[in-house]
Amino acid sequence: MDDLFGELNPTPRLLMGPGPINCYPQVLRAMGTQLLGQFDPQFREYMRQTSELYRRVFQTQNRWTLLVDGTARSAIEAALVSLIAPGDRVLVPVFGRFGHLKVEIARRCGAEVTVIETQWGSVFPDEVLEEAVRKHHPKLVAVSHGDTSTTMAQPLAGLGKICRENEVLLYVDATATLGGMDLPVDAWQLDVVSAALQKCLGGPPGSAPLTLNERAEKVIVRRKHTEQGLKTPNTRDGDGPVIRSNYFDLAMIMDYWSEKALNHHTEATTMLYAARECARVLLKEGLQSAFARHAEASKSLCAGLEAMGLKLFGDQRHKMPNVTGVHIPAGVDGEKVRSRLLERHNIEIGTSFGPLHGKIWRIGTMGYNARRDAVLATLDALKAELG
Ligand SMILES: Cc1ncc(COP(=O)(O)O)c(C=O)c1O
Repeated sequence: MDDLFGELNPTPRLLMGPGPINCYPQVLRAMGTQLLGQFDPQFREYMRQTSELYRRVFQTQNRWTLLVDGTARSAIEAALVSLIAPGDRVLVPVFGRFGHLKVEIARRCGAEVTVIETQWGSVFPDEVLEEAVRKHHPKLVAVSHGDTSTTMAQPLAGLGKICRENEVLLYVDATATLGGMDLPVDAWQLDVVSAALQKCLGGPPGSAPLTLNERAEKVIVRRKHTEQGLKTPNTRDGDGPVIRSNYFDLAMIMDYWSEKALNHHTEATTMLYAARECARVLLKEGLQSAFARHAEASKSLCAGLEAMGLKLFGDQRHKMPNVTGVHIPAGVDGEKVRSRLLERHNIEIGTSFGPLHGKIWRIGTMGYNARRDAVLATLDALKAELG
């Protein structure tokens, strides 16, 4: 009937933007699996397995490795609101739009935020980060690993050590990189790291894997205030300031994911199935092979773009392998080309934000789409539209 608008039947598109990208077919199938109750022992076992799989994806031994229900920013917000109490000092190195997002969230948490910025298309050398940590003495550094707005990846191998030496906590937003670039959480001494499914993990937006270590746990558990309706005579709360969000209260989310299974939100069953399958697909391929496949796809894409006479954006030594910025040639209407790619070729590529708006396109080679055939189809279509 017309007034019911018809069943969903989207045109098959090749999603070559900075995320979301096409899902792995196995992940779509997992999402078609029937629901279970959130306290069904079978479902609790799937939760346990999901934690175990993501420990391997994050390369960590952290007990607290779980999902926050929501897109990437839900886990960013959960991490920041659970770690930051009003008045805490926070340092945010900004090298693109998603650095500014962390500044904005930290300010909403009542933090005194110090921002250091570098030009979009570049990243920070360790010495600059170390100097800022020593000078400002924050409680927390919050930084992106990769920023899809600029396509750059901040080297992080040295920052964890700098933070430990200065007794500072380190939060890393790995939304754009988890599964596509090496991120050994324990080896790099990262205290809290979060991500999302819709990029290199090849899943849908709506679930955000997060891991935190004992240093972060200590801060969060001290702020635990169990909901009144769930308290029993044995409830032990902390004496720290209450976490200023209920939904994103990691102390309560940790209780929910623990053996106690203390009720909080209703777990997003279908998203947990998706997240579990994303990790299974990745680990079956092997982390190192997946990183190499992303690097290979990026190399082919860059070679193809340069062969067409196009110029790549940013410091190529620090470009993420999963998204590439390319300058829109002078005299070309970037949005018109993007529309034509979509209408004529069923291929989506990304626009850009802020100072880069109208100047570059962003082309993703992520997760399921980090493939030679997807890259070649995109290059062919772009060549046809640029004449
Ligand atoms: C580094 C980074 N952080 C956060 C986000 C925000 O993600 P979401 O839209 O899933 O909340 C993105 C999205 O592109 C991102 O690249």
